[in-house]
Amino acid sequence: MRLLVCGGAGFIGSHFVRVRVCEHGDAVTVLDKLTYAGREENLAEFAEDPGFRFVRGAIEDPRAVAEALAPSDAGAAAEAIVNFAAETHVDRSIAEPDAFVRTHALGTHVLLEAARERELRYVQVSTDEVYGSIDVGTFTETSPLAPSSPYSATKAGADLLVQSYHHTYGLPASICRGSNNYGSHQYPEKLIPLMILNALHGDALPVYGDGRQVRNWIHASDFARAIGCVLERGAPGEVYNAGGPDELANMDVVRRVIALTGAEESLIEHVRDRPGHDRRYSLSSERVRALGWEPQVRFAEGLEQTVAWYRENAWWWEPIRSGAYRTYYEQQYGRALN
Ligand code: NAD
Ligand code: TYD
Repeated sequence: MRLLVCGGAGFIGSHFVRVRVCEHGDAVTVLDKLTYAGREENLAEFAEDPGFRFVRGAIEDPRAVAEALAPSDAGAAAEAIVNFAAETHVDRSIAEPDAFVRTHALGTHVLLEAARERELRYVQVSTDEVYGSIDVGTFTETSPLAPSSPYSATKAGADLLVQSYHHTYGLPASICRGSNNYGSHQYPEKLIPLMILNALHGDALPVYGDGRQVRNWIHASDFARAIGCVLERGAPGEVYNAGGPDELANMDVVRRVIALTGAEESLIEHVRDRPGHDRRYSLSSERVRALGWEPQVRFAEGLEQTVAWYRENAWWWEPIRSGAYRTYYEQQYGRALN
């Protein structure tokens, strides 16, 4: 296929580009604003690929979107848009929600208009957080939306806009909602890479509140394949949940990171809880399984691989950990990194 992948320089977007180029031979154009979380080096391996093209620009900018959707030296115009572009960190959405509204509401709207004008297939990448928190049981695609943070509320808004474009204009749009992702190339503000890098540096491991919050972990390569499955075989107008095979409390994740890095247990520090912190996420994936998808990576194995990747790829995280991330960390956690 010929794809426009928005937000493809980020964590999951770059896993998706790898899966589509290497396993399906797709021609891919990436449109990415390169925010702090967008890393062009995530796509360096495709620089020489004749079907690959990178356009730096924002999804809320109609001219950048038109440029990315035009035919180019890399080949004919895209036949589908897959949208990963987003502000993705809940803590940042609490501190400064503006960019979340701009990217999720305005950006999604610009992409939907571009898809409508050109009659393109459209897949919106979304999150289990739009359903809110669930104490027992598991969310299905028909569970009500009850987002709790500015991050999840603006993601839910974008999902509703996508559904309205299918309902009103017949746009062949589908939505794929994933649970918490982990794996290589994840920006270290998120729980797992933060804990791995802090453990490797002897920094404190900041656990919010009691650490008994539960997340449903999915490896980014599994989520990427679920999105590909929805793109190829998903029904227009439908939502597909893709949940990982394992649920763990945050404290259990931190203890496993300690075991894999050889850090001291005494580094664990319980810190002030996140305001409005969702207690548990859990996602059923029957609908996408019926399309032939199944998660391949169990958490124990995936976490071991992820710790090994961060150990072996200091070139990737050193510029982040010695740059603007240090200032973010000091503001968020009230202490400096080693
Ligand atoms: P990420 O923060 O690593 O990457 C986001 C990418 O989008 C970056 O490359 C960034 O530069 C780009 N971007 C941001 N705003 C943009 C804009 N206005 N225009 C163009 N590009 C822009 O995020 P991620 O973890 O890879 O998440 C990707 C998608 O998957 C998001 O839509 C997110 O909501 C969804 N998701 C994430 C998770 C998770 O656990 N990380 C789980 C489920 C769903
Ligand atoms: P995070 O990776 O931010 O993902 P999300 O909020 O989208 O689930 O956080 C995962 C869990 O880890 C969440 O319950 C918050 C918790 N957490 C900590 O305890 N300490 C931290 O420093 C971070 C970043 C998260």
